[in-house]
Amino acid sequence: MSTFETVTARFGEVPYMQEAAAGTLRDVLLEAGATDLLEIGFYQGKSSAYMAAILEDRGGDGSLLTVDRTGARDHDPNIDTILDDLELSHRVTPLVAKRSYTWELQRLIADPDGPRFDFCYFDGGHTWDLTGFGVVLVDMLLRPGGLLLLDDMDWAIANSPYYTARPSITQKYDDDEVEAFPVRLVWDTVLPHLGYEQVREYPEHHWGLCRKPA
Ligand SMILES: C[S@@+](CC[C@H](N)C(=O)[O-])C[C@H]1O[C@@H](n2cnc3c(N)ncnc32)[C@H](O)[C@@H]1O
Repeated sequence: MSTFETVTARFGEVPYMQEAAAGTLRDVLLEAGATDLLEIGFYQGKSSAYMAAILEDRGGDGSLLTVDRTGARDHDPNIDTILDDLELSHRVTPLVAKRSYTWELQRLIADPDGPRFDFCYFDGGHTWDLTGFGVVLVDMLLRPGGLLLLDDMDWAIANSPYYTARPSITQKYDDDEVEAFPVRLVWDTVLPHLGYEQVREYPEHHWGLCRKPA
């Protein structure tokens, strides 16, 4: 059994990235020959485990740096226990932010000898402010020609269970922002402004894949 298949066998019931999406991700990573991976938002670490498994099954070099909030370590299982179980910890560096990945990315940008990446899976915080600023920071860490895969292209405050259950937070937004699709707006406005090529969408996974100018 491949390491990829073992992720599904051991942790298929853990929330978020499904095997079909992980299979598409494997195609993208193998075709690109991506080695240095960045992930924004790991939650329990399931997508991180799939990416680490893809690297492990391919062999050779390859690692993932992934960022979430401190509280992500409170999940059961969490990213550490999942990666330990799969014997994939050597492939992944989880970073936990006290407040936001935006500050963790600032720390990486500030270090000229720090890691730089040829792929980013962006799956954390879908509001306009977080996504728009987040992709600008990610851009500063991506190598020329690097790939950026955006999740939740069809997310809106209006269709978010989290915001629907919290009207006091939702009321702080204008009606048109509540109805907007911020990740798609970033895809349509900010990323073209940065010169990114829209490679393709994967509607079945709510993904958009784009490429930084070479
Ligand atoms: C949908 S979950 C990620 C799922 C994971 N990629 C997977 O497929 O298994 C989104 C994650 O983004 C994290 N997140 C949201 N906003 C964040 C922020 N500003 N800083 C750090 N993490 C954030 C949340 O804590 C959550 O764990």
